[in-house]
Amino acid sequence: MSVSTDPTLRSGLRIAIVGATGAVGQVALQILADRKWPADRLVLMASARSAGKEIAYLGRKLKIVEGRADAFAGIDVAFISATTAVSRELAPVLARQGVLVIDDSGAFRMQADVPLVVPEVNGKDVLGHRGIISIPNCTTTPLVMVLAALRSLAPLRRVTVATYQAVSGTGAAAVRELDEQNAAIVEGRDTARSVYPHRIAYNLLPQVDRFLDDGYTAEEHKMTNETRKILHEPALPLSSTCVRVPVRISHSEAVHVELARPVDPAEARRVLASFPGIRVVDDPANSDYPMPDQAAGKDPVLVGRIRRDSSHPDGLVLWLSCDNLRKGAALNAMQILDEAVRLGALKPRAAVN
Ligand SMILES: NC(=O)c1ccc[n+]([C@@H]2O[C@H](COP(=O)([O-])OP(=O)(O)OC[C@H]3O[C@@H](n4cnc5c(N)ncnc54)[C@H](OP(=O)(O)O)[C@@H]3O)[C@@H](O)[C@H]2O)c1
Repeated sequence: MSVSTDPTLRSGLRIAIVGATGAVGQVALQILADRKWPADRLVLMASARSAGKEIAYLGRKLKIVEGRADAFAGIDVAFISATTAVSRELAPVLARQGVLVIDDSGAFRMQADVPLVVPEVNGKDVLGHRGIISIPNCTTTPLVMVLAALRSLAPLRRVTVATYQAVSGTGAAAVRELDEQNAAIVEGRDTARSVYPHRIAYNLLPQVDRFLDDGYTAEEHKMTNETRKILHEPALPLSSTCVRVPVRISHSEAVHVELARPVDPAEARRVLASFPGIRVVDDPANSDYPMPDQAAGKDPVLVGRIRRDSSHPDGLVLWLSCDNLRKGAALNAMQILDEAVRLGALKPRAAVN
């Protein structure tokens, strides 16, 4: 019999996925199945609506349990991928019970005692956790990976981003809405909408999340604040325009970076290609560049169209695509657990209040 070389798999941990029926939860399950995570060390949770239903996993049927605080006996790690309200209610209670919470929501990301982690960029930050570790917003994760790579060449001066965000970033209901609207248009029927303020099929919406007083959206604020926290650069100037597009999976971003000196695109290509988790796809002569369709279902952040910014001598421009459900959510969460196992940081070093 072969012995697994995967330290997390060998750790004997029991994992609960809260939100197992959702867009991110389903991908988390696929990742665990690919790693052959044993079914008897996995508990699937969702709302009371789904309790009792079964989900196929590695040839077995696992029954869904309602994700209530009293359902976590014997659980070591909880991936919470449900709603912000569920995270707010469950995570602090579980952390006090000694469960390591890896949380996908925006509930705790900017809290000083909650590490916000992309392991390739700031993995060691997991050491400071007090029971809860957050993953970033799915647009922030690929951006900080690219910025961390470029920062190895020269300090960052200013970043401007336009995003092209897939509907699965809003959850499973938004994917159904896009599919239903597409079908209605093709069949000449009226479209219905409930998730977005306008039709998303055959359209795009320059609004992700709600508008704030300064004219930016909450999503755009998240990109600025989370990027600064992960890169440990609290004053980094960053402005974004976040746009929802009628794509099912994978967010793309047009990124303009100003550095402290002129950087040759070849240098940038070299550091990006050697950064863990990034794959450079950059052969414009053959129309080879990152596309959401190509990134979907894959782990790496794809980066291409790397060129000098014609509007600034110290500027670079590039384009990226990244599976928002994998590296943007479930994969990053799993990698945080791997990092905590690797660093011996499953339990908090400081007491949880
Ligand atoms: N989608 C992304 O790309 C992405 C990326 C990064 C972070 N996130 C974050 O990940 C979380 C989940 O997003 P998603 O896109 O997977 O959403 P989703 O497709 O709408 O799924 C939501 C999940 O939460 C469960 N749930 C709802 N209310 C619950 C309750 N009271 N108790 C327990 N479970 C409950 C749902 O179960 P039922 O089926 O029973 O309703 C479902 O499994 C959100 O916090 C989101 O902000 C998402």
